[in-house]
Amino acid sequence: MTKKLKIGFGCDHGGINLKNKLIEILKKDYDVEDYGTYSADSVDYPIYAKKVAEAVVSGNVDKGIICCGSGIGVSIAANKVKGIRAVVCSDTTSARYSRLHNDANILCLGERIVGLLTAEDICRIWLETDFEGGRHQRRVDMLNEM
Ligand code: RB5
Repeated sequence: MTKKLKIGFGCDHGGINLKNKLIEILKKDYDVEDYGTYSADSVDYPIYAKKVAEAVVSGNVDKGIICCGSGIGVSIAANKVKGIRAVVCSDTTSARYSRLHNDANILCLGERIVGLLTAEDICRIWLETDFEGGRHQRRVDMLNEM
């Protein structure tokens, strides 16, 4: 039996409903770790983006999924952590190419932007698409040097 991917989830108050629903759905097929936030109280998204980003970089989880209102704040925050390639996706094509060409290791979603069914499709495609490597590896290496 192949080992399940382990996904680290995070969110702020603007993304908590989407995060909780995605965990509920995806935990049937993946191992999940929830880095919070755990209530609808207003919090600062960089705190939770950093927790997930550090979990990815340290290898505690294989990939991260972070939700906020727009997906934007958490992506900016996560990309501050060296080794992170976080992408905001609102469609499945962007999700697929962010894996094929950019080896994205964190997916950011906006609860106020995408509906649950679209978010689930985006997650599944993003989690199941492998990096193509080849010429794209050189470019990802350049990103890692920045
Ligand atoms: C919170 O209101 C909201 O600003 C946050 O969830 C996110 O959308 C920021 O980018």
